Amino acid sequence: MTRERILREQHFDLNFIKKYESLMAQGNGYLGLRASHEEAYTEQTRGMYTAGIYNRPMEGESADLVNFPDVAGFRIKIDGTLFSLLAGEVRSYERELDLSTGELRREILWRKSDGAEFRFLFRRFVSKDDLHLVASEVRVTSLDREARIEVVTGIDAQQTNHGSQHLIEKEVRVLDEDVMLGTYRTSQSGHTAALAATVAGSAAGKESFAAKNRQLVMSVKVEAAAGEPYVFEKKAVVYTSLDRDLDGRTPEAACLDALAGYAGKDYGTLLRNSAAKWTAFWRDKEVLISSADPFDQLALDFALYHLEIMTPAHDERFGVGAKGLTGEGYKGHVFWDAEMFILPFHLLTEPRKARQLLRYRYLKLEQAQEKAARNGYEGALFPWESALTGEEETPEFAAINIRTGDRQRISSAVAEHHIVADIAFATVQYYLHTGDEEFMKTEGLALLMETGRFWMSRASERDGRLVLEDVIGPDEYTEHVDNNAFTNYMARYNVEQALRYMEQFGAEDEAYRDRAEAFLERLYLPVPDAAGLIPQDDTFLSLPEIDLSAYKENQGSQGILLDYSRQEVNRMQILKQADVVMLLYLFPDQFPLEVIAENLAYYEARTIHDSSLSKAVHAIVAARCGEEELAYRFFREACLIDLGPKPDSSDEGIHGASLGALWLATVFGFANVSFEGDCIRLDPKLPKEWSELTFPLRYRGRHLEISISRSRIRIIRHSGPELHVKVSGSEAEWNGRTEISIDLFRKKAE
Ligand code: BGC
Repeated sequence: MTRERILREQHFDLNFIKKYESLMAQGNGYLGLRASHEEAYTEQTRGMYTAGIYNRPMEGESADLVNFPDVAGFRIKIDGTLFSLLAGEVRSYERELDLSTGELRREILWRKSDGAEFRFLFRRFVSKDDLHLVASEVRVTSLDREARIEVVTGIDAQQTNHGSQHLIEKEVRVLDEDVMLGTYRTSQSGHTAALAATVAGSAAGKESFAAKNRQLVMSVKVEAAAGEPYVFEKKAVVYTSLDRDLDGRTPEAACLDALAGYAGKDYGTLLRNSAAKWTAFWRDKEVLISSADPFDQLALDFALYHLEIMTPAHDERFGVGAKGLTGEGYKGHVFWDAEMFILPFHLLTEPRKARQLLRYRYLKLEQAQEKAARNGYEGALFPWESALTGEEETPEFAAINIRTGDRQRISSAVAEHHIVADIAFATVQYYLHTGDEEFMKTEGLALLMETGRFWMSRASERDGRLVLEDVIGPDEYTEHVDNNAFTNYMARYNVEQALRYMEQFGAEDEAYRDRAEAFLERLYLPVPDAAGLIPQDDTFLSLPEIDLSAYKENQGSQGILLDYSRQEVNRMQILKQADVVMLLYLFPDQFPLEVIAENLAYYEARTIHDSSLSKAVHAIVAARCGEEELAYRFFREACLIDLGPKPDSSDEGIHGASLGALWLATVFGFANVSFEGDCIRLDPKLPKEWSELTFPLRYRGRHLEISISRSRIRIIRHSGPELHVKVSGSEAEWNGRTEISIDLFRKKAE
């Protein structure tokens, strides 16, 4: 029997309407659909996006992930009264997103102001079987009398991105008194988007069509008998000119073909096809946690569901946005979140997807080289924020200071250069975990060499050493600093690995090699001081401190920026997110455990965790330090970033990196897995609340399943060759078996 994986909303509450639109969003990596209610509420932000379709609202502005025409809305009138949860009486309400099947369901018992009662059941899904399909079903039952039900739905192109209209309506038509078809073009980027929809009902009704004000709609009216459910079924499809499966057709023609192909297939059939793909996903990737609190399992299920729907696995031209395809936060742009927080999940569960994410960067190498050259550097300087074209998309300005009217500059595009080394780091990890030489000796090596070249040109001389001046590390509250430890260590790794793989694959370039060797010899690396502290940058440890407890209590809100200007925050020991701690997470073997523990304690005390990327990374490092209780607290707080009680936490989309980091915390923190060549090491640090943890891993052609309990570790090798296993320091041998079990007390394989 499959277990239940359900995210529930028990009450209708306008204060949470945008949050749940994001949390319960559906998608398949090609298309993302926010969980807006079928009926209209001014507070909700309808949203449907397809990976890769961006448009600049105006010359010089950064690109928006285009909000597509809506196909999920239904206007329902009963005996002339508009159905709304703000009118009449809501007798019962329940909405659930079934993570097992990808279906969203909402059941409502509603009493109209005249006392008549109705039951509504709304269901919909974005297909995992056919990436272009959105199907919905609306079931209305008049419980105690005859009623006239009118349903109006179609393709509504009144959607905008916060007021920016990106789509020019090219054509709207109704074909064969059946299919609604709309064709649009993005105003600047010139992509075509076609949407088509049909509506069918279980009962014969009176149908009519209308097109007005960018809405193409169909209206169906039925005289409903008491007690009988009336079902309206809608199939909508989306194709764009970017699609690779057009096979020479226009997006419109592809839409019509798709709808024709669904003739005779009802909602249930289409759902089953899609759900079967979800079943395969969970079979291959599920993480099982036996916890005292079932919320932990839900949080992981939720994370995995979103990691799946945010990733455009169908096309390597597109990356993963910070909010996936669940909202317009950060305009749908791709950050280091993709390589450092999201990619590892794919790398260790379906490596092909990790390769695709790296190819996304590789395909934009030229633009990165251009950005480097424009800024007076060599090699490749990847944009801090990236979209389809690979150009820098970071907006120039952030919010306006409403007292002074000054617009605050965002400096990340000019100084947050660690993204370059993050991409190189992910490239190396990909190779280490897959051994994919074909990728590494061509695209991987090009990425490594060009990113390495950037660092060599980026460094400057000071007192006989090479230094990296004027950078922003992961901690964005400390801008324009010299020798950010994270950046320097990552840059060194980048150049070192470029050299290593040049050698391995015989890429001869003597000048590069000489320069790289000199760089590695002379690059300054901040090392632990007498107190064991790794200075975050040249000045950080000498800055004044303030009491951060009030801000820490309200983490994620960036409330400190209301009390202090950015410049003031910049001159204090205040961190937005993991910085040195991020370094310790990535390079645990480079520092003694006491140093790691010391730095974790020091920097965490000064970290507000205003970025969602922070908490779960702290959980990993704390777990490895043997501070399971603290690690579990960080982990739980990370789970609450999206799933917690704050009404506005996720209005503009889920926190993709944080969800990726929950998986990281489970595997690299609590299970404490690491790899070295053909050896897997485990040194579990399960929180006391967890009695068992089971998860799959793919590693260098192996498919493993690992179960960890308090007393035992069991590894099943479903496929692939044996590998060395080291558990808490002692080795276990397979001796030809496909399964080994290690007693954690006796540290013995059985
Ligand atoms: C964080 C960055 C992150 C971005 C997108 C910012 O608030 O500081 O590290 O890449 O959000 O998630």
